[in-house]
Amino acid sequence: MYLIITASPNKDGLTAACGKVAYNGIESAGGVAEIIDISELKLNPCMICGDGWGTCISKAECVIDDCLAGIQEKIRDCEGMFLITPVYFGQPSERMKYFCDRFRRCEAFRKGGSWARGKNINLVAAAGGSGNGTATTLVELENWCRHVQAIPQERIGITRFNRSYALSVIEDAGRRLVKREFFKGF
Ligand SMILES: Cc1cc2nc3c(=O)[nH]c(=O)nc-3n(C[C@H](O)[C@H](O)[C@H](O)COP(=O)(O)O)c2cc1C
Repeated sequence: MYLIITASPNKDGLTAACGKVAYNGIESAGGVAEIIDISELKLNPCMICGDGWGTCISKAECVIDDCLAGIQEKIRDCEGMFLITPVYFGQPSERMKYFCDRFRRCEAFRKGGSWARGKNINLVAAAGGSGNGTATTLVELENWCRHVQAIPQERIGITRFNRSYALSVIEDAGRRLVKREFFKGF
């Protein structure tokens, strides 16, 4: 199973369009894709327990009862992933940041290694305004991959101006994720 995590409230927006073509690309190559739209799930921000760390570091789990634990398991079990976020103020959306922050706390120091370790991840930043901040958003997602021991593959910036071209690039990235046509190490 290949996981596609999106984080925009607009069901017909640019982020949703990216999720659909990623799905199509994966399935057209024979993979099984699942989209999780974290904007419609219960997902809270980190509470910064204790003196800065809580059960995230001691047990690799968060005390908040919401969708995070289920997504941790899905990432552990998936064969590859897309992270697709709208660009807000040159950053991933707040929803995507909630997820990234809490997942990283739980996984960065998990005994035996992160459940995202070695997972190939395509990163997509969808900017519907000027397009400013697409690159900085991708930098944040790429840094997150390093912290959770995942392997960033494609880094795709889509704007309303390059939409049609970029959607075809995302679809192709989905296909190549399944076909394993990407960087495999030096
Ligand atoms: C709070 C907020 C901040 C935004 N900041 C940016 C930005 O920095 N650069 C940009 O190009 N678009 C920006 N936008 C526009 C979004 O990227 C645009 O709404 C985009 O289409 C989001 O994807 P969606 O269609 O899936 O909602 C912003 C939108 C919001 C709501």
